[in-house]
Amino acid sequence: MEAHSLPNPCSFHVLTFLFTILLFISHHTQPVSASTTTTNQANTNFISAACNTTTYPPLCFKTFSPYAAVVQTNPWKLSNAALNVTLRAAKSTSTLLSKLALQNGLTPRDVAVIKACIENIKSSIDELNQSIQAMGALGSSSDKLFQMDSIKTWMSAAITDETTCTDGFYDSIVSPSVKNTISKSVLNFNRLTSIALALINHLVY
Ligand SMILES: *[C@@H]1O[C@H](CO)[C@@H](O)[C@H](O)[C@H]1NC(C)=O
Ligand SMILES: *[C@@H]1O[C@H](CO)[C@@H](O)[C@H](O)[C@H]1NC(C)=O
Ligand SMILES: *[C@@H]1O[C@H](CO)[C@@H](O)[C@H](O)[C@H]1NC(C)=O
Repeated sequence: MEAHSLPNPCSFHVLTFLFTILLFISHHTQPVSASTTTTNQANTNFISAACNTTTYPPLCFKTFSPYAAVVQTNPWKLSNAALNVTLRAAKSTSTLLSKLALQNGLTPRDVAVIKACIENIKSSIDELNQSIQAMGALGSSSDKLFQMDSIKTWMSAAITDETTCTDGFYDSIVSPSVKNTISKSVLNFNRLTSIALALINHLVY
């Protein structure tokens, strides 16, 4: 009877053993996960600081913080991610406008404005693509300065082309629904291009 009231020495040893293992695991995994957290924090801070130098910090941070693991703290990778995302936005704007042009109930003036806008977006897409190609070839370029100047010129031209889209509204009667759709999608794309240019302007080479 007395033996039963004492803790079982066998299970006591098992518990001690398990506890030791747990201690071991927590000691050996915590430094790793803590440093991962620190790295993630550093990557996110880097994007936040870079975005704060652009024209639209909140949009920039919302758009590029998901790329923190890819970008890390490399400003060139951030610029490349910005160019990629901007090109994708340009393509989806172009698709949206092509669909809009086929909608029923548009006036001939609406259609003309949409088509002109699609042409402008197409030019922007070419300019963004040229910038991406030039950034990719920069490492093997013998004249980095010239290439970077070209990239900045193409990006500025892309912004101008996008803006020309909405300029078409002022001298013509366009249906409000068409105006709204174009304004919203072009505005977002325009801001992304402006952010990408700001990030590129801050590169040191
Ligand atoms: C960027 O600006 C925001 C808003 O002002 C601020 O909360 C944030 O701490 C800034 N980021 C960095 C890394 O300084
Ligand atoms: C940008 O896109 C190119 C081509 O799709 C890809 O190779 C590259 O990794 C992307 N860069 C970033 C930073 O997302
Ligand atoms: C971008 O440019 C390259 C090389 O000039 C071309 O092969 C590619 O089709 C272009 N992509 C787009 C989306 O225009």
